[in-house]
Amino acid sequence: MAKNKNNQAIWNTRIKKKTSKFFEKVGSSIEIDKRLYKEDILGSIVHVEMLFKQKIISFKIKNKIIYGLKKIEKEISKNNFEFNKEYEDIHMNIEKKLFQIIGEDAGYIHTARSRNDQVITDFKMWIKSANKEIDNNLEKIIKSTLKLAEKNIETVMPGLTHLKNAQPISLAHYFMAYIEIFKRDKKRLSNNIENLNECPLGVAALSGTSFNIDRHYTSKKLGFSHPTNNSIDTVSDRDFVLDFLFSVAVCSMHISRIAEELIIWNSDGFNLIQLSDKIVTGSSIMPQKKNPDLLEYLRGKSSLTFGNLFSMLAILKGLPLSYFKDMQDDKEIVFKSYDILINSLKIFDEILKNISPNKEKMFELADSGYVTATDLADYLVKYHSMSFRKAYQKTAEIVNMAEKKKKKLKELKIDDLKKIEPKLTSEVLKVFNLKNSINSKKSYGGTSFENVKRMIMKYKKNK
Ligand code: ARG
Repeated sequence: MAKNKNNQAIWNTRIKKKTSKFFEKVGSSIEIDKRLYKEDILGSIVHVEMLFKQKIISFKIKNKIIYGLKKIEKEISKNNFEFNKEYEDIHMNIEKKLFQIIGEDAGYIHTARSRNDQVITDFKMWIKSANKEIDNNLEKIIKSTLKLAEKNIETVMPGLTHLKNAQPISLAHYFMAYIEIFKRDKKRLSNNIENLNECPLGVAALSGTSFNIDRHYTSKKLGFSHPTNNSIDTVSDRDFVLDFLFSVAVCSMHISRIAEELIIWNSDGFNLIQLSDKIVTGSSIMPQKKNPDLLEYLRGKSSLTFGNLFSMLAILKGLPLSYFKDMQDDKEIVFKSYDILINSLKIFDEILKNISPNKEKMFELADSGYVTATDLADYLVKYHSMSFRKAYQKTAEIVNMAEKKKKKLKELKIDDLKKIEPKLTSEVLKVFNLKNSINSKKSYGGTSFENVKRMIMKYKKNK
């Protein structure tokens, strides 16, 4: 064993008594932050390369340290590394192990840095790759949604407001709405990159360092665009954590909305979609049941990501600058939110591949509830020079009449319509056709089959 008393805390010369076992247990974060080992080792390798370039450490020591770090990385990735709670976190565990492997020269690794800048450098790098992973999964979902949309351009469904039939729409247009949502989620994550790209390494504890380090070098080597500008802000800042948690929470919230929607469509009352047996579960007592548990899982899990965002806000509220132990919980919170979202995205993609619309049922529902009433009002405006308000009232009278006669709008006779608006001719009857209604919505972003087809083509070509 190296001369360094390896089984003791790094600060044991100053702090004579051993940390109480209880505090050691609660204060240690190794079980959580060991997930940062790759980033931590990469950060340390680049750090010592810079120390050598700046003539702060020798070539020999640099090489010894890098050798040791690579060995540690291999051990951890092969599950051959024993993490020790006594050494608190991933940074100390790796440093301690380095002493075991290369001896006293390991002591040079922490020149001109502190765990305060080290941890956020690791964490920013980790969040950047997490962003990429989320983005890849969103991309997969967008592809699966596009496939569904392509198959359902002319599938007619009732567009709902207040969960009441409103106007007929193309089911593909509906699915394309999800694509807009997920594209925004992608954008929200990529908007965070600018702040994530500021490299904290080298600000040390909070005030910078007296060593002649090159922060631009380490920043570039670690894939950041530039170093942070103020050492105090750097070690105090967790805004990038909030940005990530917010983006994850919003994306989970979107999934929960869609999940709820699919639960409603799948309910026996609506019966608009079929879920394949792959994504339903049975009941322990009711033999007939096929329950949408996975969708309910998605709806439920999103709430945890909201809680995580709130926890982080609460940790930071009123916290003075600069580093405090309070912030250590940021990792646990972020990892939890990330795991929930990645799981949810994977599940959601599987769900998209396993749903099929009950086209007849959709049409039947769209054909009830007077969904073409707005089309009639528009017709009166266009062809009988009425103001929209006047046309709205006339149409409402016609709907009242249909309701009284227990008929659909399309089942009314032209003579009935004429009683309310004598100028009408049988020409008007075409507005009650659902597909005509959909096709008339040619305004940009509207549901006409043509528009939807064009959008699908555009997105298939990727943007
Ligand atoms: N594990 C610590 C954290 O995540 C690293 C920073 C520790 N710094 C300190 N001065 N205690 O917050």
